[in-house]
Amino acid sequence: MAVIKVDIANAPYEVRIAAGILARAGEHCRPFVRKDHVAVVTDENVAANWRGSVESSLAAAGIASHWLVLPAGEATKSWHHLAQVVDFLLAHEVERKDCVIALGGGVIGDLTGFAASMVKRGCGFIQMPTTLLAQVDSSVGGKTAINTAMGKNLVGAFHQPALVLADPAALGTLPLRDTRAGYAEVIKYGLIDDPAFFEWCEANGERLLAGESAARETAIARSVAAKARIVAEDEKETTGVRALLNLGHTFGHALEAETGFSDRLLHGEGVALGMVLAARFSVRQGLMSGQDAERVAGHVAAAGLPSSLASLGLSCDGRRLADHMLHDKKMDAGTLPFLLMRGIGQTFLAKDVDLAEVAAFLDEQLVG
Ligand code: GLY
Repeated sequence: MAVIKVDIANAPYEVRIAAGILARAGEHCRPFVRKDHVAVVTDENVAANWRGSVESSLAAAGIASHWLVLPAGEATKSWHHLAQVVDFLLAHEVERKDCVIALGGGVIGDLTGFAASMVKRGCGFIQMPTTLLAQVDSSVGGKTAINTAMGKNLVGAFHQPALVLADPAALGTLPLRDTRAGYAEVIKYGLIDDPAFFEWCEANGERLLAGESAARETAIARSVAAKARIVAEDEKETTGVRALLNLGHTFGHALEAETGFSDRLLHGEGVALGMVLAARFSVRQGLMSGQDAERVAGHVAAAGLPSSLASLGLSCDGRRLADHMLHDKKMDAGTLPFLLMRGIGQTFLAKDVDLAEVAAFLDEQLVG
């Protein structure tokens, strides 16, 4: 088992990573659950695959579980379901020092974490992420949120979990497309500041996507270690360090908005293409070599992720994509900070990017 400590001041916690850990969830949760019962939030798909083993493992540790099973999908990250989770936790008389369990992907983790941040002004929660994206990114670091009519993740809170249990075996029940999309966030950590990890991805990404357990565990552990280091340095994204985790997300968010946040482009696919665009824009700005940018694009393509804007077949122009960026929640007093690269593993926050130049660059990329 790999154990990564997330060293947040006053609230450190561990991320424990091991194939089969969900079937041993009870023994890991026991010290965090003060009572003989616990509330668990999950979705229909995850419940079908994992409820049985988590429930019996909790029972074997002397913990009865109450389950709220929500519809699967992004639409569940809503005011309506937030109220449902809060009411469920209150109905089970969750107290501040209790931990509730979020078993699922990013939707369940974000929604349950946000509910936990407000019940009794904040109770504990345990993340059991079941998608690669949730295991390497969203379950760690305490960002919680729901979507509203105005956009994705615009309402939320920073609320750190008490424990994270990541089971690479859970990825075996997911469509490969979802795992590929989660893998974009793995590549991201190499590109931010760890060129040796990017090389590891180039050498081992195929094994990971083919389902090899050791490659999955290594990728999750190295990604979580990178995220833990960054989050410990800048928990609430105030100094610019945590903002590095948004590499590829500004371009990606614009593409997700243009494709209606639909199955046409999954979040991780948007991030993958966004990282390629950030690399190519960095080349255009004279910051990065074309060779490095094409290495990024080459690995993204090899992982079966989109690496060319032209191939999306969008009918808009660059200005329209740049306009979507104006609604990005990272907007800061009228300017939009951009994550650009000086090379592989040399990402930095640029605050003086001209959106007109971004629009002109996107016009070029839209035609290939
Ligand atoms: N997913 C970006 C962050 O946690 O800061």
